Amino acid sequence: MKIVVIGTGFVGLPHAAVLSEYGHEVYAYDIDAARIAAYQTGEADAIERYVNEPGLADSVAENINRYLFFTTDIANVVDGADVFFFCINTPPKRDGSTDMTYYLDAAHHLAGLLAQRQNLSRVVLVNKSTVPIGTARLLESVMAEHGVANFGIASNPEFLAQGNAIEGSRRPDRVVIGADTAEDMHILRRVYSQFVNHVRIRYLETTPETAEAIKYMSNTLLLTYISFWNGVGARLAEAMPNIRMEDLKIGVTADARISTWGSYVSNGAGGSCFGKDIQSLIYQLNRAGRSTDLLQAVYNINEYQKIYLIERAIHEAHFSFNQKTVALLGLSFKKRTNDMRDSAALRVVESLLARGVRAIRAYDPLAVDEARRNWFNPDKNYLFERISYHATAQEAISGSDAIYISTDWEEFRGLARTIQTTVTPPYLIMDGRRMIPDYDTLATAGFDYLPVGGPLLCGREADAMSGENGHRMTARPVPSHAL
Ligand code: UDX
Repeated sequence: MKIVVIGTGFVGLPHAAVLSEYGHEVYAYDIDAARIAAYQTGEADAIERYVNEPGLADSVAENINRYLFFTTDIANVVDGADVFFFCINTPPKRDGSTDMTYYLDAAHHLAGLLAQRQNLSRVVLVNKSTVPIGTARLLESVMAEHGVANFGIASNPEFLAQGNAIEGSRRPDRVVIGADTAEDMHILRRVYSQFVNHVRIRYLETTPETAEAIKYMSNTLLLTYISFWNGVGARLAEAMPNIRMEDLKIGVTADARISTWGSYVSNGAGGSCFGKDIQSLIYQLNRAGRSTDLLQAVYNINEYQKIYLIERAIHEAHFSFNQKTVALLGLSFKKRTNDMRDSAALRVVESLLARGVRAIRAYDPLAVDEARRNWFNPDKNYLFERISYHATAQEAISGSDAIYISTDWEEFRGLARTIQTTVTPPYLIMDGRRMIPDYDTLATAGFDYLPVGGPLLCGREADAMSGENGHRMTARPVPSHAL
C-alpha cells in the first residue's frame, strides 16, 4: 500500500515507522521543515530531539529511504496513495473544546490536492489522533466541498502510552476501525493485514462515530479508575487508622475483574491525553445537552489531587510554606519522559509560589531543559526566578526545609539515605508517589513523612509507634517542625 501519514509527532512518527516495517511504502509528511530535516538524517539524536520513544530511532534507521520517506511536500506524494492518516495535533482550548485549526488547515490543503488528482482510484482518509466525535463526518464534508471524487473516511484511534509507542504499535491490544463501506474496510484490512484474524489482537470494525467514542470512553474510564484509587482508596488509608495502602491494593485487585493498572495512588494523573480528553468529552456531552456529573467529578478529583498533599501539609502537619525552601523532586508527568504537559509538578509549583516559598530547588533526571524552556521561564512570570535547577536529588535537597516528590522516577526509591545524610530535622517529606519504602527509618531519625495514601508519620513520635513499618496514625500527631 502507498500510505501518507500527515503529522509526524508522538502519534504520526511511530505509526509511520511501524507501518513501514510491514513493507508498506510510507510517506511521512509534516509542515515543520526542521523536524523533517532532523528525521531525514536517520540519526537517533536528531530524531529523539522531537520524539523520544524506545525503538523508534532504530525503526526509522532501518526503513528510511527503503520503505519510509520524509517530506514537506505533500503535493508530490498524493498521486497513487491508497490511505492518508491524519496524525495532527489537536490542542485543547480554554473552554475544554478542541482546537481544530491545524487539523482543518491540513484537511483543506489535502482536499485541494485530491480534487486535482489524475489517478481516481479509491482513497481512504483516516483520523488517527484523538478528535471530537463527528470529525470523520466533518472530514467527509471538507472533501465534498472541494469536489474530491472516490474517497472514504474512517476513524482508527491510537491508544498509545508514552514510552511504549513502538511496542504498542507493533502489538496493540486492539485495532479499531470505524468506516462506512465494505470497500474502505477492505483497504484498511490490507493496511493492517498482520492484525486481522490475529489470535490475541482484537480487530474491531464499526462505525466512524463508534470508533471515535471508543477512544474517549477508554481514556476517561482509565482516568476514572485512577481517580477512584486516589479519591477513595488513598483517602481511606489517610483518614482511618491502620489501613495499609499496598495491602488494600493487593486485596482489591486480586479480583480478576479489577485492574492493577491504575491502582497506584499518586498526586494526580497528568500527561497530554487524560486531562485534555476528559475536558473535551465534557464539552461534547454538554453541547449535546447531557449530564456530565461523573466526568466533572473525576476531572475535579484529579486536579485537586495534584495539590492535595500541600493542603495536607498545612492542615495535618501544620507546615507553613511562607519563606521556606522546598526541594521539588520530579517535574515530568511520569517517569522516563521529559513531558511536562498537565504534570502535577506544574500545579505544585503554582501552589508553592502562591504560599510564599522563598525558593524551589528542582531536580528531574530528564525534564530540566523542558521546564526552563516551556514552563518556568522567568519571562512568563517573575516568580519563576525562585526556581533553581540541580544536577542531583542530593544537591536539590541540600539547604531545603521540605521535599515534595512529584514523579515516580525509580531513583527516588533510594532517597531515605540521601535525605538523612543531607538535611536534619525538623524536616517534612511530602511523598506524592509513595516512593520511599523505608520511610520508617526516616521517621525514627526524626523526619516527618507525609505520603499520599497514608497518614502523617511524625518524626518525634516514631520511636513510640508500634506496628509493622511503624505505619500507624497516632490520635493527635504533632509534627516535629510544629513544636
Ligand atoms: C495515557 C493512556 O494510558 C493511553 O492509553 C492513552 O492513549 C494516552 O494517555 P500516557 O499519557 O502516556 O497514556 O500515560 P499513562 O502511563 O497512562 O499515565 C498517565 C498518568 O497517570 C501519569 O501521570 C501516571 O503517573 C498516572 N498514573 C498511572 C497514576 O497516577 N496511577 C496509575 O496507577 C497509573
